[in-house]
Amino acid sequence: MENSIVQIKAEALESVAVAADIEQIKSLSVKYLGRKGLVTLFLRNISQLPVNERPEAGKQANITKKKLESAFEKAIADFEAKTKDDEFNAIDVSLPGRPSSAGTLHPITHITRRICSIFSRMGFDIAEGPEIETDYYNFEALNIPKNHPARDMQDTFYVSDNIVLRTHTSPIQVHIMEQNAPPIRIVAPGKVYRCDSDLTHTPMFNQVEGLLVDEHVSFGDLKGVLEAFVHEIFDEQISLRFRPSFFPFTEPSAEVDILCVMCRGKGCKVCSQTGWLEVLGCGMVHPAVFENAGYDTTRYSGFAFGMGVERLAMLKYGINDLRMFFESDYRFLRQF
Ligand code: FA5
Ligand code: MG
Repeated sequence: MENSIVQIKAEALESVAVAADIEQIKSLSVKYLGRKGLVTLFLRNISQLPVNERPEAGKQANITKKKLESAFEKAIADFEAKTKDDEFNAIDVSLPGRPSSAGTLHPITHITRRICSIFSRMGFDIAEGPEIETDYYNFEALNIPKNHPARDMQDTFYVSDNIVLRTHTSPIQVHIMEQNAPPIRIVAPGKVYRCDSDLTHTPMFNQVEGLLVDEHVSFGDLKGVLEAFVHEIFDEQISLRFRPSFFPFTEPSAEVDILCVMCRGKGCKVCSQTGWLEVLGCGMVHPAVFENAGYDTTRYSGFAFGMGVERLAMLKYGINDLRMFFESDYRFLRQF
């Protein structure tokens, strides 16, 4: 009898030594120590042994039970420790980390800065003015009197009878001329507001105004400056055209169109089938505007222009809907 418990112990310890995982140890535990386990049954049957064998058999059985309990426990702990090690070793610490994405400038901010830097290299200073304007600065001082049909050229947001959200950056010209004597050479970026919305119009958009006043300034100077600018901002040579136009505050006036980059001039919905996209208005400063500012019109002449920043950005980045710039779609913005 004693022999049999010794044999059970040896067998159990051998099995533990070759067990492949925690599950196998657990079933060994059931097999030997469970309610119907071999050691348990042995203990239960001791009463049937001859009286003189019972003490030694009981002693051996209890030793075996304790020995197996601790062997199973230790084997399970070893397996658990090994699994942790494996998990740790599965991490390849030499792999590069996940990059966190850094923010970028909004494409409109980016192109506005680019525009300003090109002009500042040509000797222009940067100016600014208020987005909420009086009727006088937005219209009257620019030779657009009340009830003049030219007021209908832009759909104005009125704050009150006399106060408007500026419809263009041209009122900055007036502020600058009131505060400075010629010569003047400035560009002025800013937001402007019009009741307008489609593929190429949004109710808020950005313009950059330009104003140059000096003696002997000609339309040729205006053309040269704008051509140099356009060729600088579009890295490739791009076709542009000056088209006669009308603004009450310039005479003569022109608008500059750039060949539509979406269709290369064939005509598409972005350019309303014309093949061209208007990017700016310009002209020689009207004498009435100089008079409002107190400038000597016999001595000074000048030119001004106002360009649509989103239009330039559309053409530069090949974007076919101007409203994308204002939708804050991260998938769109992160491309720049
Ligand atoms: C003007 O705003 C004049 N102040 C420009 C000017 C300045 C002329 C100085 C002469 C001297 P216009 O309304 O055409 O002009 O607008 C100028 C440019 O702004 C347009 O060529 C176009 O590129 C852009 N633009 C006009 N309306 C919108 C709009 N709703 N959304 C986006 N861009 C627009
Ligand atoms: Mg226009």
